[in-house]
Amino acid sequence: MVHQHTTLKTIHELAELRQHVAQWRHQGERIVLVPTMGNLHAGHLALVQQARQLAPRVIASLFVNPTQFGPNEDFSAYPRTLAEDQAKLTAAGCDLLFAPPLATVYPQGAELTTRVEVPGLSDRLCGAFRPGHFAGVAQVVCKLFNMVQPDIAMFGEKDRQQLLVIQRMVADLNLPIEVVGSPTVREADGLAMSSRNAYLDAAQRRVAPQLYQALCVARDKLMAGEQDYSAIEQAAVQQLSEVGFRPDYVRIVRAQDYADPAPPDTRLVIAVAAWLGRARLIDNVVVERNAQRSD
Ligand code: PAJ
Repeated sequence: MVHQHTTLKTIHELAELRQHVAQWRHQGERIVLVPTMGNLHAGHLALVQQARQLAPRVIASLFVNPTQFGPNEDFSAYPRTLAEDQAKLTAAGCDLLFAPPLATVYPQGAELTTRVEVPGLSDRLCGAFRPGHFAGVAQVVCKLFNMVQPDIAMFGEKDRQQLLVIQRMVADLNLPIEVVGSPTVREADGLAMSSRNAYLDAAQRRVAPQLYQALCVARDKLMAGEQDYSAIEQAAVQQLSEVGFRPDYVRIVRAQDYADPAPPDTRLVIAVAAWLGRARLIDNVVVERNAQRSD
């Protein structure tokens, strides 16, 4: 007898994917999609586990998308670990893995493929440092949504700006998909889990938790009522630089659209991106401030 439960059903071609999805739909089963670029860790698996609570069928996708990497970024170096990923997804309760080859996603080549731009939001923070990045993310996620046609899609709050970009795209293009965010999963010392943590050597790994610590210091200042956002940002940049990071930015923005906060905004995000060795690490925390008194 074949032990089917130990091998994850893995599909590479769109036609076969559509057959499975059509069968599940015919049975009236709702479908959740968890898009990933693989090299899975507990953060990804938490998305799969949460997805299982939301609908009876969970599809993960694995595709290292070239259009969201800049010309000097780590597309070729990005870790590819299909066998390990399959085992982890099986244990987490995923029903099916869609792992399309490049030519299935971009048959005309990426350059000649229709683009999806989410203006404004995509130009801020990470978007300013990675031109074209969020257009590449929106493009591939839009395509994955149309290929899989899920009812729900899960994204991590670790990449909160990405989550907002996807939510905006879904609203703007009237896609009938519910986009759900999932809390950041951290190592015991506070470091947000990331495939790129694998780029850190032992010494850098010991320094890495200070990224989250700098965010917590900034959050405490905001909670204590400090109003000078730029002073808080500068102090965090300095704190990170002193321990060996090369910060791209530390920014306090309002949570709903990543614009500069104005006095009535009470829900803020402190977002950071910083290089440590050859790893570009990002993290963010949400801060709820009490509403300003109007008297
Ligand atoms: P990837 O970096 O593989 O992440 C896949 C999903 O896992 C994203 O939604 C991300 O936010 C989430 N995730 C990563 N680390 C996490 C953590 N520590 N805690 C919680 N969630 C975490 O993000 C992408 O891939 C790509 O841009 C993609 C959306 C797949 C489009 O190519």
